[in-house]
Amino acid sequence: MNVRWQQVSVLAGKRILLIIGGGISAYKSLELIRRLSESGASVTPILTYAGEEFVTPLSVSALAGQKVHRTLFHYDDEVEMGHIQLSRASDLIVVAPATADLMAKMAAGMANDLATTVILATDTPVLLAPAMNVRMWAHPATRRNHATLIDDGIECVGPNDGDMACGEYGCGRMAEPTEIIAAIERRFSDRRLTGRRIVVTSGSTHESIDPVRYIANRSSGAQGSAIATELARRGADVVFITGPAAVLPQGKVERIEVETAREMAIAVDRALPSDVGIFVAAVADWRLTSVANSKIKKHAGQVPVLELTENPDILKTVSRKEKDRPRLIVGFAAETANIEMNARKKLEQKGCDWIIANDVSSEVGVMGGSRNKVIFMSSTETEYWPCMEKTAVARRLVDRIATALDD
Ligand code: CTP
Repeated sequence: MNVRWQQVSVLAGKRILLIIGGGISAYKSLELIRRLSESGASVTPILTYAGEEFVTPLSVSALAGQKVHRTLFHYDDEVEMGHIQLSRASDLIVVAPATADLMAKMAAGMANDLATTVILATDTPVLLAPAMNVRMWAHPATRRNHATLIDDGIECVGPNDGDMACGEYGCGRMAEPTEIIAAIERRFSDRRLTGRRIVVTSGSTHESIDPVRYIANRSSGAQGSAIATELARRGADVVFITGPAAVLPQGKVERIEVETAREMAIAVDRALPSDVGIFVAAVADWRLTSVANSKIKKHAGQVPVLELTENPDILKTVSRKEKDRPRLIVGFAAETANIEMNARKKLEQKGCDWIIANDVSSEVGVMGGSRNKVIFMSSTETEYWPCMEKTAVARRLVDRIATALDD
């Protein structure tokens, strides 16, 4: 008997929906299909009208071993598998090449052909392999669209530097099929968080003054949402407890909406036990000692005095719990001065395991912005992370959490 040891690829049995846009590098997508199929993945191709100018439907379907989907309004296609079903019946959507035009439509939320409709209708993760002329990639519009897509939780592989088909040199070449495969494998291979229960607090809290007024802060919820999205993408069971926020997570998370610090504290307590607690919320430190039942009226020459009472410190309470304390607790420190020193003090006083310190001075623009520059601290380490998208901070933090739980 001839026994051959063959390592089973993480791609075996995975369903990839591959959208081929209209760019010269579409020819590399044929190689991508071949490699994916060889690894045991099934590839359902969508070819855009522009894509058909570069590769033929016949070559795509021959390599994929499946029919090519091309139009949105095709009676037979809709009867067999409608575009909504098509968007859901995959483990990952790969767009390669992702042209400047496709990226712009995605960033704007347009749905005017099969590819863009599927992308807008999906809750499946999306991976882009951008490819375009160097100037198009550098154009402020594409920079904006790229940043929007990253913020939306979409991952990009490439583009790379190199000679371009148009004769220019620079950044814009589509990543090689081997690089795209590696990025796809990475997504499927890290399942260390599967089944881990993780509680995340996010957003701000509102503390009522009277029926129309409240005390609030500038937190948008973007960093907490990025962390929850990343955790969910990696298979964690996420309980996302959010105060009022402009940004919410994507993917499968259990969302609990609260308004005040006390409501958040109760929701956190109910959500325990969990493996990990991540406390990103900008919780109001104080509430009004007594909230007026009716609107406080203005009286000339008289300014109301608001008496405040301290709110429960949720992070500290959970960190000091004897029973049901999560194995790993991550706090955030919002500072405007002496960041490192204050954050280290918070780490000790609150009793959490890690603190992510960030500078929230208004000139830095962290609160409400898409980027963050943080210092990671544990009892033994201090790491200065460069300024990056909040989604990238989330990826790096979640990597670290997965590694810590593995130990
Ligand atoms: N936190 C909390 N409950 C509170 C206040 C803060 O759970 N009542 C958490 C935050 O979610 C964050 C950490 O504690 O993870 C630090 O919050 P931060 O606002 O930076 O500090 P404070 O503890 O409020 O202290 P200070 O306002 O004096 O900086």
